[in-house]
Amino acid sequence: MKKVLVLLISVSIATMSFAGEGMWLPIFLKSLNETEMQNMGMRMSAEDIYSVNKGSLKDAIVHFGGFCTAEVISSQGLLLTNHHCGYSAIQSHTSLEKNYIRDGFWAASHKHELSNPGLFAKFIVRIDDVSEQILAGVTEEMDEATRQSTIDKNIKSLREATTLKKFEEIEVRPFFKGNQYFSITTITYPDVRLVGAPPEMIGKFGSDTDNWVWPRHTGDFAIFRIYANENNEPAEYSENNVPFKPKHHLPISLDGVEQDDFTLVFGFPGRTNSYLPSYAISQIVDVLNPAKIGIRDQALKIVDAEMRRDPQVKIQYASKFARIANYWKKWIGESQGIKVTDGIGRKQKLEAKFKKVLSKKKNLHKKYGSLLDEFEALYKELEPYALMKGHYDEIVGRNIEIMRAANYMRRLADRYENNGAAAYGKYKNILISRFFDDFYKNYRPEIDQKVFATLMKTYSENAQMGIADPVKKLMLTLGTKDYKELASHLYTKTKFTTKEALYSVLEKAPEEAVKILRADPLFIFTDELAQQYNTQIANQYSEIQAKINKNQRLYMKALMEAFPKQRFYPDANSTLRVTYGKVDGYAPRDAVQYTPVTYLEGIIEKHVEDDYEFHVPERLRKLYELKDYGQYADKTGKVPVCFIGTNHTTGGNSGSPAVDAYGNLIGLNFDRAWEGTMSDYNYDASICRNIMVDVRYILFVIDKYAGARHLIDEMTLVHPKEE
Ligand code: ARG
Ligand code: GLU
Repeated sequence: MKKVLVLLISVSIATMSFAGEGMWLPIFLKSLNETEMQNMGMRMSAEDIYSVNKGSLKDAIVHFGGFCTAEVISSQGLLLTNHHCGYSAIQSHTSLEKNYIRDGFWAASHKHELSNPGLFAKFIVRIDDVSEQILAGVTEEMDEATRQSTIDKNIKSLREATTLKKFEEIEVRPFFKGNQYFSITTITYPDVRLVGAPPEMIGKFGSDTDNWVWPRHTGDFAIFRIYANENNEPAEYSENNVPFKPKHHLPISLDGVEQDDFTLVFGFPGRTNSYLPSYAISQIVDVLNPAKIGIRDQALKIVDAEMRRDPQVKIQYASKFARIANYWKKWIGESQGIKVTDGIGRKQKLEAKFKKVLSKKKNLHKKYGSLLDEFEALYKELEPYALMKGHYDEIVGRNIEIMRAANYMRRLADRYENNGAAAYGKYKNILISRFFDDFYKNYRPEIDQKVFATLMKTYSENAQMGIADPVKKLMLTLGTKDYKELASHLYTKTKFTTKEALYSVLEKAPEEAVKILRADPLFIFTDELAQQYNTQIANQYSEIQAKINKNQRLYMKALMEAFPKQRFYPDANSTLRVTYGKVDGYAPRDAVQYTPVTYLEGIIEKHVEDDYEFHVPERLRKLYELKDYGQYADKTGKVPVCFIGTNHTTGGNSGSPAVDAYGNLIGLNFDRAWEGTMSDYNYDASICRNIMVDVRYILFVIDKYAGARHLIDEMTLVHPKEE
């Protein structure tokens, strides 16, 4: 038994990609994946998924606002995505009288659907390998700057040789760390309207407690619609626009999923790093993640205590808290997952194998023999800078709210001095409408001041490498005895803590306003921190990182040459990808075994009266009592809510469709299971799971809960398992 296991493990290490691993390029499915996919149960061809000649699955997939994925689910341009992807759109239509976040929203007819300026749906027209053209003239001996300018020139001429229609674009992007280039032709529809959303107690059920967690019971979906002009072309919002007619829309399966069923997720994963050397992974686990987690820990604790004390604060900070808590929780899971699956050891084994191949192949050894040692030295050199960058980004850039405000003011003052009064006025208005109006609605200086005192202490104590510490310096100048006193001094003196104070400055003539801004103690302090950061941390960091990037490009190439039979997938870069796997539970810990499907029963189990995370709407409990499930129950008479699979996904895959062996919609991707979030560096089929809402729960909520039967009537419902 043990021998078989060892053999199995070494075989999978040898092939490097495990069942489920990989975010594959749609244009290479035929050559790289089709056979495997069909062996796993897929009944489609690669051509059914991606084709430029006929309608295919890809024609139903859009990049939603550039940050999520969505899919077309009717011949009338109906779009399905996550509630958390549509959240700010839903929020923007929400007021005290019409509380769509709390109560949900359902447009009774087309004319009630709500427009969302700035939101767009971007389709992929075609993807082409343009590596040869883009890398023409690039040589191995070139220095990096010459290499880049050669590539930029080639990209420019490719663009100039392409004619595009309005709303079409061509993006040329590096893949495989810059060893290959692909051009992506897109068409963008800018009129995307809100059609429906469940109440938050369904769409965000479980909130932060359940975030990244399996078992899950969140109905994380929202419905939009793409509009086009009368010729079905993209057009800015107009009353005369009509529902868009897609080349393809996804049929929806009412037959659901079972253990081991084939699943395919099609969408726009944001960023992964699957080919890092072991040194980088240890740095993440041992140094960078603990620092970032620790910083957020401190901030979250302060905010959480205040939210518990005051219901008004609860409302003001809920969304900010969720945003900070989201990646805090992810990083904890990520670090643990790397440890549990020996992520570092695995990389080291691969590196040992790599060295062994090089030792046998002189030509490869000559080109790549020093890469790993260089990586080791470079990451060591990078470490203190990376650590301080982490501190700066988290503390100044994210967690102390007023420093974000102060940094905007720094930019505004610069704008005046570099571009004059008109540019200043324009930028000021943008800042007010896009940042400050909202900022002050949800800002409590007394809470932020506590965060400041705590995090500035952390920043100062971690100032390394003998660099100047502006925090200490200021404390010395002011004669404040500790960080609390420093915070109190700054927050009392600055004009940035209230809307009235800041706006009264901004109302003045530009020259005078800038003078006052520049004299503000918080402006001065933030400015000094930024200068110090730029000159003593950021510049050095970028320089070393550029060397690492070059090494990483060579290492990627080296791996491909050293293991020529190996299939490689490029890291996620917000371009369209296919990932596939199967429905499967997992065993995260000793004696714990998760099954892959949750049910309405589980929602009822989690109900806590009046709890902001777990209160189940009464109407939903009533439907459960009456077992009023319509056609949405499974064979055993229960309504499935969420399910998990081995699909390799990441941030950006939110809203991606999960389809069955035939290309019918079965679920909506919205999260990953916490224990497997290290899949961004190190996918492991034993614990990496993506979380999807079962489409039958979505239909049940639309039909039975919301009574929006007219939307169901637009869709194409199928029974693939009955045929
Ligand atoms: N974890 C999911 C994704 O990254 C959902 C995030 C939204 N929900 C939340 N409670 N913060 O990003
Ligand atoms: N919730 C994530 C998103 O917004 C998806 C979860 C993940 O990182 O896999 O894209």
